[in-house]
Amino acid sequence: MKKTNYEMVAKQAAALVEGVSYEVANLANVSALLWQEMDGINWVGFYKMVDGALVLGPFQGKPACVRIAVGRGVCGTAVAEDRVQLVYDVHQFPGHIACDCASNSEIVLPIHVNGAVWGVLDIDSPEIGRFTEEDQAGLELVVKVLEEAL
Ligand code: SME
Repeated sequence: MKKTNYEMVAKQAAALVEGVSYEVANLANVSALLWQEMDGINWVGFYKMVDGALVLGPFQGKPACVRIAVGRGVCGTAVAEDRVQLVYDVHQFPGHIACDCASNSEIVLPIHVNGAVWGVLDIDSPEIGRFTEEDQAGLELVVKVLEEAL
C-alpha cells in the first residue's frame, strides 16, 4: 500500500479551496482529493452538524446513512468526546454504524469552526488497522486547511 504524502495533499487542498466560498464545493473537492490520494479506503466524506445532529455531506464511496445522533457510532462519538477516533477494528467498537459492510477500520476527525464542532471527516477502510497515528497527523493538516476555509 502506497503511503500518502499528507503535506502535499494539504497543499493541494489549500490550492483547491483558495478563494472559494462555496462550502459544498470545498467539501466535495477535498473528499475527491483524499479519495484519489489514499490507498485502501472504501469511503471518505463529511458529516456536518445540523440542528444538533450529524448530517451527511459530500463524500466518495457507497451511499451512506443520512443522520447520526451525537454520541452514536464512531462519528457521533468523535463529536461527543471532541476527539479523533482511530478505530483499529470497527466490529469491536460499541455502536459502530455499518454503512458499507466492507468497512473494517475507520478514522473520524472532528472539524472546528469558530471554536465549536462544525462536523467530522470520516474515512473507512476494508482493511483492519488501516489507519495509523501517522495518518491521523497527516489528516489533521488537511482538516486545518478546511477549518480555515469553512
Ligand atoms: N461508520 C460510521 C457511520 C458513517 S459511515 O462509515 C459512512 C459511524 O459509526 O459513525
